[in-house]
This record gives sequence, structure tokens and C-alpha cells, in this order.
Amino acid sequence: MILPVYLYGHPVLKAVAKDVTPDYPDLDQLIENMKETMYDSEGIGIAAPQVGVSLRLVYIDVDVLGDDMPELKGIKFVLINPEITILDGEEISREEGCLSVPGIHEKVRRIEKINLKWLDENWQQHEQLIEGYLARVVQHECDHLNGKVFVDHISPIRKQLVKARLNDISKGNVKCGYRTRCARPTRK
Ligand code: NI
Repeated sequence: MILPVYLYGHPVLKAVAKDVTPDYPDLDQLIENMKETMYDSEGIGIAAPQVGVSLRLVYIDVDVLGDDMPELKGIKFVLINPEITILDGEEISREEGCLSVPGIHEKVRRIEKINLKWLDENWQQHEQLIEGYLARVVQHECDHLNGKVFVDHISPIRKQLVKARLNDISKGNVKCGYRTRCARPTRK
């Protein structure tokens, strides 16, 4: 089932999400719904808070970027309770966007070398060094679990420049091709 995507400004996107526990009801269904919602909105990653569920759960599928970045071909995975350790390295500035912040793309500086620990959908533990663009996507998604969105990382000047548009998004005054839910709907 395709779920509405919660937009910038909604409290669920500002909350620190809770760990997923094995007794969480219908986890498989939630994961399935997140996948459907992400593909419908043509995203490459989605975090549970973006569908209004404050849980530490992420789905990533970066295969579509494989033409430009061959290392991303075929990469898709579910992250349950992911833990990131940022490793040393150079901060790289690249443009990001977000399903919850439609129409805004801004450069974000991040270190693209991380150690990631996570559980998959079968509750198997994994740990892997992740580099490059995928490390950026993982950090972006995991930020959502800590109540952050990518525009929280941009400079105060850039933030000022997009402030009016962010305000519009929080009121649902934004055109996008998928169903959304906002914090402060404007009555029409
Ligand atoms: Ni996002």
C-alpha cells in the first residue's frame, strides 16, 4: 500500500525514532509499504518517520543510479536499528534532495566513509565499511531517525534563501507527484 509522505515541518520528522523490536506487529507489511511508497515517489531511500512511523527503519535502493555510478548497481537493503560510525576522511559537498522536502536540492557536506552496523529484515546482524555516494545516502536516511533532514545541514545563508519554500512545504503548498501529509494544512 502506498502511504502518504510526511512533509518537512511535521513533528514525526523532528522526533528521535524508537528502536524496532522483534515483536513489532506487521513489520513485513510496513517494510513492503515503505518500498511501494518510495518507488511510487521515485526516491532512492526512505525512513519510517517519512511515512509517519517513528521507528528506526530504513529502506534504500540505489540501483537506479547505477548508470552513473556502477558501484551502486543492484544495491538495495533494509536497515533495522542502523548504527553509523563516521570514519575519518574528507568532507565532500554534494547535492541532496528528499521526498519530505520536495522541490529543494541543496549541497550538503558529509564524510563519505562510514562503518555501518544494522539488522536486516530477517534480524541478521551485519557490519560493513561503506564509502562514497552510498555512505551519503545511508547518513541522509539515518538522519531521519534522529529527527534531522538534510536542510538542517546547509549554511544559514542557504537556509535563509529556502526559508519561504520550506514554510510553504510545511503548509502543504507544494506540487509533487505523490500523496503527502503536512503539519499545518492550509484550508482552501
Ligand atoms: Ni530524506
